[in-house]
Amino acid sequence: MKKLIVSEEFKIYQNVNELKDFEQQLIAKAISFLDLSYAPYSNFHVATALLMENGEIISGANQENASYPLCLCAERVALHHAAMRFPKMKITLMAITAKNPIRNDLGPIPPCGACRQVISEYENILGSDIRIFLKGDLDEVMELKSVKQILPFGFDSDYLFNPSA
Ligand code: THU
Repeated sequence: MKKLIVSEEFKIYQNVNELKDFEQQLIAKAISFLDLSYAPYSNFHVATALLMENGEIISGANQENASYPLCLCAERVALHHAAMRFPKMKITLMAITAKNPIRNDLGPIPPCGACRQVISEYENILGSDIRIFLKGDLDEVMELKSVKQILPFGFDSDYLFNPSA
């Protein structure tokens, strides 16, 4: 038997003011996209802003459905939106925020497991890590160098094909 230890380092900023201007602007954009959330069932509003390599910003917000399992997360709406608008273009930065109207104390909101998997797929196909900022109601901002920091032992296409074929 052997043990494997996974450890990761994350940057936590006390305030957005500690970030560069373009990073602050992307977080502000994500917050503005909360208005695009359609979340009448959970009342949990999530929004994502993607900064593309060409400087364009892509929006995403969660889109719910009366048939609950059909709800789409903000992160996946944004990533697929980006793939349609700018196919194969690298994503420089991602900002994710959330708002629960019944409380005002949310810290950085991490993406769900399904979204982690999808972000990871885009990192793989685009050939570059996506830096991510997470911010809730509180001033604090968390930075991930790549989603893989929070998706250890992730599944990817390497398992699907015969490497010697
Ligand atoms: N949600 C997201 O948009 N992203 C996540 O990573 C977690 C959850 C949405 C889905 C649903 O509309 C609501 O938040 C409550 O789960």
